[in-house]
Amino acid sequence: MEQAAKTPPIRVNRLAVHEFRNLERFDLEPGPQFNVIFGDNGSGKSNLLECIYYLGALRSFRGARSQDMVRLGSESAQLHGLIGGRVIAGQTPARRYSVQLRTSAARVLKLDAKRPRSTGQWLSSIHMVLFHPGDLSLSAGAPDGRRSFLDRVLEQVDASYAGWLARYGKALRSRNRLLKLDRADRASIQAYNPLLAEAGAHVAKARAKLIEELAPLVERAFFEVIGDSMPLSIDYRPRVPPEQDAILRALEKSFERDRARGFTAEGPHGDDMAISVSREGSEVHARHHASQGQHRAIVLALKVAEVDVLTRRSGCVPILLLDDVSSELDRSRNRRLFEMLARLGGQVFLTTTHPEFILLDEHRSDFSVERGRINQVT
Ligand SMILES: Nc1ncnc2c1ncn2[C@@H]1O[C@H](COP(=O)(O)OP(=O)(O)O)[C@@H](O)[C@H]1O
Ligand SMILES: [Mg+2]
Repeated sequence: MEQAAKTPPIRVNRLAVHEFRNLERFDLEPGPQFNVIFGDNGSGKSNLLECIYYLGALRSFRGARSQDMVRLGSESAQLHGLIGGRVIAGQTPARRYSVQLRTSAARVLKLDAKRPRSTGQWLSSIHMVLFHPGDLSLSAGAPDGRRSFLDRVLEQVDASYAGWLARYGKALRSRNRLLKLDRADRASIQAYNPLLAEAGAHVAKARAKLIEELAPLVERAFFEVIGDSMPLSIDYRPRVPPEQDAILRALEKSFERDRARGFTAEGPHGDDMAISVSREGSEVHARHHASQGQHRAIVLALKVAEVDVLTRRSGCVPILLLDDVSSELDRSRNRRLFEMLARLGGQVFLTTTHPEFILLDEHRSDFSVERGRINQVT
């Protein structure tokens, strides 16, 4: 983290929202560092984080669709953020991001009042790391959560990644649709193989490289933030070796099996990132063997490593969104986490029902949320 101290942070300078979930309308200027968002359960704190996350990730961290996020009784929601972007000559000039979500039509995106060139361009221009209670499944749950974690990092550091991933997903869905039909012929199903192999190799290679970079950072995070030397290792477990030829061969080879099952078995959609812990001298899967407390620590270490990778690769400290994290961590880990965040100097948004438990004195702005109304506390 030493070099990070000199790295400029990316920041939300202003946030204006209209008709998003229970947030009728607000326009605020967040503080440059710690923004503590407090209020009772159900008041709208996570909704506020969801707005910020949506501006960066163009999706909800709760898996919500547009019609779920538009305020009940309304037809559209608007999100506007003035967000300091990439570093240019030592500065992070702010850009205007705006999203209109509609209940019965596609969303509209504007970057500096123009339609962005691609979704990938947008996603790779804002960097943020989210930590919320549902993240526990990253360590304790199924592989899809870990793939999403890797994909989310990659789409933020590589403007072409989101496009390859989307092309792969689209071809996979089309191939699977044909596999489910009785009369689809072999040639039309196999016609998707070259595209799956090409896009799949891009995705898989990027994931492999990222895991290699993450591995030592996760170990360090364990030691520095978690204060634990629990030996932990992460490895890429690709379904097929991350090469175009290998994917192509695997698809051809499993054709009859795919047809019998009605879906494509081989390819990076089956990848996993194995997280192993050492127990009594042997390596075991964290997913099946770690305790609840260890899962929490593992997820926190992964998130700290994510911050590190984004900082290194993008040249700016990402925005941190922490939803109810204090309730997830014990006191000493909380303190270490905040010390690390203060050292990084990035902008942080955190929600809590108990602002007095957030042990921060300096660089702090408080916002109260009451039934969807947000007010800065002065
Ligand atoms: N589309 C919507 N329109 C209006 N209210 C909504 C919508 N979606 C969720 N809500 C309301 O938002 C509130 C939950 O907000 P949330 O941010 O999750 O609370 P918390 O402060 O506990 O994090 C609930 O009262 C819920 O009814
Ligand atoms: Mg909440």
